[in-house]
Amino acid sequence: MFKGRDVISILDFTREELEKIFNVALKMENSGKREQSILKGKLLATAFFEPSTRTRLSFEAAMHKLGGSVIGFSETEGTSLAKGENLADTIRMLDSYADAIVMRHRIEGAAKLAAEVAKVPVINGGDGSKHHPTQAMIDLYTIWRELGKIDGLDIALTGDLRYGRAASSLLYALTKFRPRRIALISPTSLKPRKEIVDFLRGSKLKFFEGENLEDIIHELDVLYVTRIQKERFPDPAEYEKVKGGYRIDLELLNKAKKTLIVLHPLPKIDEIDLQVDETKFAKYFEQAAYGGPVRMALLALLLGGAR
Ligand code: NCD
Repeated sequence: MFKGRDVISILDFTREELEKIFNVALKMENSGKREQSILKGKLLATAFFEPSTRTRLSFEAAMHKLGGSVIGFSETEGTSLAKGENLADTIRMLDSYADAIVMRHRIEGAAKLAAEVAKVPVINGGDGSKHHPTQAMIDLYTIWRELGKIDGLDIALTGDLRYGRAASSLLYALTKFRPRRIALISPTSLKPRKEIVDFLRGSKLKFFEGENLEDIIHELDVLYVTRIQKERFPDPAEYEKVKGGYRIDLELLNKAKKTLIVLHPLPKIDEIDLQVDETKFAKYFEQAAYGGPVRMALLALLLGGAR
């Protein structure tokens, strides 16, 4: 059911399929450092047209750990794109060399276009402000691993809910589950776009929009914080108005349940006080580490070999 599929949007996956990925990821975690060879002889191409640390390197590490190899680029200056080659032609070449392609691009829809051109599976490593399906898988996996479930939880997303693709992908993903309630907390100008809110309204997800985290912090099981997406603001003056507008600190977290977990897709800039890193609320580094087993599971399922 996975072999050969593209991964463009988290909405392409059913709850059962996501749970299958979690179970395979758990096996990958438990297999420890034992050498794996299930993707021996397979080649992954990474095509990163936008900056990335975790997504590219964890895909590369995952491929190596499964016995496969990796080719790719993380900036376009050294490629023929700098000479004006179009995206479709670049993807055609990668398609002829590799068994799968992971791509990140500034423009929404770029991954879908690549998937139409390529015969091998295309995995969207983030395109534009909307889709980052593997991040959403990692976010759900983190909640499931840390709290044992997703259903019934009180979850808040805060920060830049307008331009952040990690937040919108997670919201799409949560519509497949039954959390108790989702709070969308952001300054007015960073509220989720209408298309996302309309989608949520059409789903069974219980959610509300607000601006004040203090009022609800004591109810939360999960607080998902995001960075202001400076590079995606159409108007730099708008960015100047909202930057530094929210911050998660110990004073706020003192009002939270002891079991609250704070997540962040990373990179974080200044939206979480550094003191929070030292507390047991902070689970964002664990979350980033779960990217390894989740991406191993996904590659193993897409390229065959996972049980
Ligand atoms: C995110 C992204 O690129 O959308 N990063 C990631 O993959 N963890 C989040 C961000 O850049 O803020």
